[in-house]
Amino acid sequence: MRGLRALAPLVLVSIAGCRGMQHALDPASGEAQQIGTLSWLLYGGATLIFLAVMALAAYALFGPRSRARLAHRNLVIGGGIVFPAVTLTALMVYVFSGAPDLLLRGEPELRIEVTGEQFWWRVRYLDAEGRPQFETANEIVIPVDTTVAFRLRTADVIHSFWVPNLHGKLDMIPGHPKTMHVRPERTGLYRGQCAEYCGTQHAKMAFMLEVVAAEDFDRWRQTQQREARAPDAPLLARGREVFLASGCATCHAVRGTPASGALGPDLTHVGSRRTLGAGLLPNGIGALAGWIADSQALKPGNRMPAFNDLPAQDLQAVAAYLASLE
Ligand code: CUA
Repeated sequence: MRGLRALAPLVLVSIAGCRGMQHALDPASGEAQQIGTLSWLLYGGATLIFLAVMALAAYALFGPRSRARLAHRNLVIGGGIVFPAVTLTALMVYVFSGAPDLLLRGEPELRIEVTGEQFWWRVRYLDAEGRPQFETANEIVIPVDTTVAFRLRTADVIHSFWVPNLHGKLDMIPGHPKTMHVRPERTGLYRGQCAEYCGTQHAKMAFMLEVVAAEDFDRWRQTQQREARAPDAPLLARGREVFLASGCATCHAVRGTPASGALGPDLTHVGSRRTLGAGLLPNGIGALAGWIADSQALKPGNRMPAFNDLPAQDLQAVAAYLASLE
């Protein structure tokens, strides 16, 4: 009894571990629900089979003399051939019968193109004809109860798009764009992660995906489509000057300014994002300044050069300007 009581906290902790913003067993869509059910079936079945095999092994090793019966041919044929064949066939039929629901679902209501890049995510919202409406990075917002088509591409090596709460993972393979359909059923903030080793910063290639109510999504989309806010204070105006004069625009775009670089993330609304460096740091003026001054110390091997020769006042101004771009 005391042993059981000691186990209780462990069980509670492991059950509590089944919820979270990056968790395949805390589904927020029908697709993830189906994957979750299959996972539980496999865990349950594997546990039962493991226990049965261990019990048989213990019996064979330490049982009474009657254990000699285990050496019978029927057990070998039944347990070694018939049982796995029947179980695995049943499992295959079950998985194939559910597979159509995990694939494409007819006409999507929203199209988003996500491109994996070393080591971040370029996100383009498309219109019904597939033309880009606006671009953002490392952050995706989608409306609840809406069929969303993710068009998945890569700009360089193989990456893998994975938001465990919404769907299984899908590799982004050079030259082979793929489409994933998701219909989220629960609002919330979820975390996505690159799931295929793609270089030194593979582990730090994350993104946030927020599922919101339809009205909130429309509001967010309208804001994102706008051009960048004009600076309304001397510090911010100075920041924009520094941004345009220091070479930032070679790689970054800020719509509404002459900056139209396309190598790095579009910064038109960078101030509205939750994180910086693809999920690396919570966004804010301090993080922006640190990232600009020496992103190579924070995320070695990323494509952004360090700007550690910027005078402190210029660095502060440019960070404040970027933070103001909400
Ligand atoms: Cu991108 Cu791993």
